Amino acid sequence: MRNGESGERGALGPHGTTRAPEPLRVACILDGTADAECRPPAVVPWLDGLAGERGDLALSVVDLAHYDLPPRYAGHPAGQLHSFTGELARAEGFVVVTPECNRSFPPQLKQAIDLSYDEWHAKPVGFVSYGFGCDGVHAVEQLRSVFTELHTVTVRDAVGMDLRLTDEKFPAGGSIYSDGLVRAAGALLDQLTWWGLALREARAARPYVA
Ligand SMILES: Cc1cc2nc3c(=O)[nH]c(=O)nc-3n(C[C@H](O)[C@H](O)[C@H](O)COP(=O)(O)O)c2cc1C
Repeated sequence: MRNGESGERGALGPHGTTRAPEPLRVACILDGTADAECRPPAVVPWLDGLAGERGDLALSVVDLAHYDLPPRYAGHPAGQLHSFTGELARAEGFVVVTPECNRSFPPQLKQAIDLSYDEWHAKPVGFVSYGFGCDGVHAVEQLRSVFTELHTVTVRDAVGMDLRLTDEKFPAGGSIYSDGLVRAAGALLDQLTWWGLALREARAARPYVA
């Protein structure tokens, strides 16, 4: 599958001034954990709020729990696989939100990643991870390797959360998103936007070489 590139870039305005580029389209991919309660609370509204403050990227949500995806790619995407790959094709960058399970990421996420190919190419990927004890860092390092095979650029800074969601330490109405996490998310989004805009222009200038 080849994705349709719009090739939008910053352009000269009527008086020769540089117009700000169109916001980067970023798909926020949520792991396919059946029980959405297991995710960090309000992770998408939190990221969306940060994106909204910046104005240089527009988030969409691809929640794998809402897709009934086939176990493997069958040659022609149809039904839910078609809409899933369409969402990836439209995106110019990705934020993958994942838990860590036994030092890796969940199988539902790998299944979904493997169902697409060109849709990932020459786009940046950032990570928000969580785990109990090590912030999901093992899951992210494994995902970096997977995404290298898919010709993406994984951004250096990630958001990692040490979470036990059943803990009482997050009282109702309290936020788990500390200043440190906000700073980490800022670095992630800065790098994702830099790469996303650079690669938007690069894809428009010449076909990628996969
Ligand atoms: C089967 C299973 C394996 C897990 N393995 C890890 C792990 O290897 N590393 C880690 O940091 N967290 C691990 N976790 C914790 C989860 O990533 C997540 O943080 C936690 O399940 C959410 O909070 P909870 O305690 O309410 O379930 C594991 C959880 C489960 C259910």
